[in-house]
Amino acid sequence: MKKDRLVPTLIFIGVVLVFLLIFFAIFFRIVPNSSFSPDNFRMGEMMNGRHHMNGNFDTGEIRNSQDSPMELRLPPLLESDYETDEEVSYTLVADEGQTSFREGPPTETYGYNGSYLGPVLQIREGQQVHINLQNELEEETTFHWHGLKVASDVDGGPHHPIESNGSAEIDFTVDQEAATLWFHSHAHRKSGEQVYNGLAGLIFVEDENSDALNLPKEYGVNDFPLILQERFFDEENQFRYNEVYDFDGTTGDTPLINGTIRPYIEVGQEWIRLRVVNGSNGRNYDLSLSDGSSFYQIASDGGFLEAPVERANLFLSPGERAEIVVNMSEYQLGEQVFLVDGSTEILEFRLTKEREGNPELLPNILNDLPSVETEALTDRQIEMSGRGHMVTMNGRQFDMDRIDFTVNQGEKEIWEVTTIPGMMMGDMPHPFHVHGVQFRIISRDGVPPEAYEEGWKDTILVSPGETVKIEIEFQKQGVFMIHCHILEHEDNGMMGQILVE
Ligand code: C2O
Ligand code: CU
Ligand code: CU
Repeated sequence: MKKDRLVPTLIFIGVVLVFLLIFFAIFFRIVPNSSFSPDNFRMGEMMNGRHHMNGNFDTGEIRNSQDSPMELRLPPLLESDYETDEEVSYTLVADEGQTSFREGPPTETYGYNGSYLGPVLQIREGQQVHINLQNELEEETTFHWHGLKVASDVDGGPHHPIESNGSAEIDFTVDQEAATLWFHSHAHRKSGEQVYNGLAGLIFVEDENSDALNLPKEYGVNDFPLILQERFFDEENQFRYNEVYDFDGTTGDTPLINGTIRPYIEVGQEWIRLRVVNGSNGRNYDLSLSDGSSFYQIASDGGFLEAPVERANLFLSPGERAEIVVNMSEYQLGEQVFLVDGSTEILEFRLTKEREGNPELLPNILNDLPSVETEALTDRQIEMSGRGHMVTMNGRQFDMDRIDFTVNQGEKEIWEVTTIPGMMMGDMPHPFHVHGVQFRIISRDGVPPEAYEEGWKDTILVSPGETVKIEIEFQKQGVFMIHCHILEHEDNGMMGQILVE
C-alpha cells in the first residue's frame, strides 16, 4: 500500500474502532453511571439469558421448585393503633430482617412490620386514615400507596424520602371504591432493589358495595391475597440484587407467592377469591388453572368490574392487580389442582373441606361504572421507548426538577399512550402507571377493550407499536409520577412528572 493511502486508512480504522468501543460501552454499560457498580456487570449473566438481548424478549424463566410444599403465608391483617368507623390509625415500620424461605440459611431481607413484605392495611371508603411511618433501614426509603387517590404530598413518591431512622406522619381520607391496592418503596433510583428485598404490602379498600356483594370474604379461608414475585437464591440462600440485576426487569428462577416457595392452600368445595398482585420487578405473569378450567375475573386494579368476566387465563404485568373467583365445588375432595404460569406450578389447591350445602351463585352485577367518552379528541400523547438504560418517557429521562406537563384538577383528559418500537435494542412492552388516580381504557389500537379491561385501571401494559387511549381525571392536587412499572426502568429514568392544579 502506498504511503499516502496508509495514513488515511489507519485513521479510518481508528475512527471505526472508537465508534465500536463507544457503542459497546453504552450497550453493556461499561461507562460509569450513577447506578452502575462493577458487580452489576457480569458477562456471564448477559449470556445465560438474564439480560434479554437481541430483541428476544422473554419474561424470565421460572421453574417448578424442588423445595417441599409449604402452606401459603398469609400477610397479617394489620392491627390498627386506633379505630372508629370514621377514623383509623396504623403504624408501618420498614426494617431489615432475616427470612427463612427454604431449608438452609435464612435470607437477608427487608419488610414492613416483619422481615419480608408487609401486612394488609384495611381501609374503608370515607374513612380518615392516619399512618405513622418509620424507617429503621440503614438507607432512605419512601412509602408509596399504589392505586390510592391521595394528594401528592402523602403519595410517597421519590420526593418524599424518609431518611434512615426517620419517621413521618401522614393523613388522608379514602376517596375511592373497594379495591385491592398495594404499597411499596419508591425510593429514588432504589425502588427496584428495595422492592426486590421485600418492601411491598397490600391495601384492601372496602365500601358498602363490597360489604353487600355476595362474594367470598373470609380471609385465609376463601379469600386469599397472592403477591406474585420470583427470586434468584445463591448458594447461601441470598438474593444479591446487584449480581442478578437486569436493567430490563430483575427477575428470578424461583416463583414465590406472599414470600412462600412452592405454596399450597387448603380449600373447600366452594367459590374462592384470589386477589392477585403482580409484585414482580419486571416479570409478566400469565396464570391459568392446570386442568384448563375457566374462572371469573371480578375486579381490576381500582375496583370491581361491572359483572364477572369468564376467563381461561389472567395476564398481569408488573404493578397490575386483578381479583378472580374459582369454583372449587367442581373438584373432588382430595383432588389436586394448580395455578400455573405456562408450565410452572405456582400454587397448589388442596381440596380438603367438603361442600356445605350448595355453592352460592356469583352476583350478576358487581359494580356500576360510568361510561367512557369514546369520541373525545386526544389531549395528550405519551410515548415510552427504549430498553436498559436508554429508556425514556416522552423522549426524556426523569428529572425531579422538571414538570413534564400540567393538567387541571377535576377535568377529564384523553391520553394516547404508545410504546415506540425500538430501533437497535429490540422491542419490549412497558407497563405504564400513573400515580394518584384511577383511569379507564377507551381503546387499544382503536378497538374497545376486552370486558376485563373495562374497569378502573392504574397500570396498563403497552406493547411496541401499540396505542392505548385512556380517559383520566385527577381529583387530587400536586405533582404525580407517570412511569414504567418495570422497576429497573423506573429507576433508570423512564418516568415523568405531572402537575395537577
Ligand atoms: Cu407502584 Cu410509582 O408505583
Ligand atoms: Cu404508584
Ligand atoms: Cu419499561
